[in-house]
Amino acid sequence: MPETFTEISNPEFADSPAAAPETGAPESADAQTAAPETAAPAIADTQTYVAELLARPRPGEDKILAFYEHRLGLICTNPRLLLLPLDDHMVHRGDGVFESLKAERGRVYLLKEHLARLENSANSMGLVPPCSYARIEQLIPAVARAGGQPDCMIRVLLGRGPGGFGIDPAESPAAGLYIVAYRFRPKDDAFYARGLSAFRSRYPARAAGIANIKNTNYQSSVAMIREERERGLDLALSFDAAGFLAEAAISNVCLICRAERTPPDCLDRDGGAPADGVRHPDNSGVRLVVPEFSHALPGTTILRIIELLKPLMPVEVRKVREAEIFTALEMLQTGTTVDCAAITSYEGRPVGTGRPGPWATRIRQMLAQDLDRNGRKF
Ligand SMILES: Cc1ncc(COP(=O)(O)O)c(C=O)c1O
Repeated sequence: MPETFTEISNPEFADSPAAAPETGAPESADAQTAAPETAAPAIADTQTYVAELLARPRPGEDKILAFYEHRLGLICTNPRLLLLPLDDHMVHRGDGVFESLKAERGRVYLLKEHLARLENSANSMGLVPPCSYARIEQLIPAVARAGGQPDCMIRVLLGRGPGGFGIDPAESPAAGLYIVAYRFRPKDDAFYARGLSAFRSRYPARAAGIANIKNTNYQSSVAMIREERERGLDLALSFDAAGFLAEAAISNVCLICRAERTPPDCLDRDGGAPADGVRHPDNSGVRLVVPEFSHALPGTTILRIIELLKPLMPVEVRKVREAEIFTALEMLQTGTTVDCAAITSYEGRPVGTGRPGPWATRIRQMLAQDLDRNGRKF
C-alpha cells in the first residue's frame, strides 16, 4: 500500500472562487441532460467514460478543495475525481467510521482528539486502518494544506474497504482511507446573537454502545434534521428511554446552572476550593452540567470545554432531566462546526433569560483562543 503523497502547491491561501476544474476533456454535448429513460445506456470504453466523468459537472463540486485516497497515495484537487469505490463495504453495508474536523486560520483543531475517537470507533468495529494513526495525523494537515484555504472542514472516512458486495469483512483485504478538505465558512456574529430554538425529538437517543461510535450509519441523526426542517425549529434533542437528555442530531448540549453553595467541609482554609480540589478563581457561582455520554457521542468540543472550564467552575457529567432545562441559567449547543451557541428556547418556552447569555460568548472565545494556541498548523 503506497504511503507517499504528492504535495500540491497552492498560492498562499489566495481566496480564489472555485474555478471549474481543468479537465482537458471534450465538452459533453448533453452534460446537463440525462439520456431519455427508454434508451439503453451506451457501453463506453475507458477513455470515453473518463472523459465524460471529467466533463460532467456534479452538485457540490465547488465545495471540494482537495482529497486523498490511500489506495492511490495521492492528493487530488479535481472534485470530479472525488469517487468512492462502490464495493467498499462502507457504502453498501455502512461498515465504516468517520470524523469531521475543522480548520480555522490555518490550524486544524483538536486533531489528536479526533484521531483518538476515530481509533476508538474503528477498534469497536474491529476495523484496522491501512496505515498507522500517526500517518493519518500527518495526512490530515497535508490535505488541508493542499486545499489552499485557511478555513475548511476535513472529513476522514475509514471504510472496511473495497472487495465485493458481500457482508463478510474478510472480503475486504485492506480498509479504505479517504480524507477530504471542503469549504467552510465560520458562522457570523448574527447567528450567535440570535439564539437557537430547541424541542424534544420524537426519535429516541441512540442505543448505549452504539452512541459512542461515529460510524457511517447516521439515519437517526438524519431523521432528527428532517424533523427540525418540518417543525421550522433549530435543534431536535434526543432523550434516552429513561427520559434523560442525550444530545442533538450532530452536536452535544449542556447547561450552565446556578452552583449550589459549596458545603463548608469542601472549602479550603481561604474558602476557595470546591470538592474537586480545583480553585475556581472567579467564584462565578455557576456550574457546568453535561449529560453523561451513555447515549451520546463524546464530542471533542464538549470534552475540551470541560477541560477549559474546570479551573473556573465545578463540572458535573451526569444524567440530566428535561425539567432542568427550565431552571438552567443557559443552555448551550457544542460541536465542531458550531463551537458553542446559545439555545434560548425549548419547546416554545425561554431558557434562562431567553437571550444568549455570557457563558455562551465566553466559551466560544475560549475555544477560539485554544485553536490559535493549540491547533495544528498546516
Ligand atoms: C451525534 C453527534 N453528537 C455530538 C457531536 C459533537 O462532536 P464534536 O464536538 O466532536 O463535533 C457530533 C459531531 O461529530 C455528532 O455527530
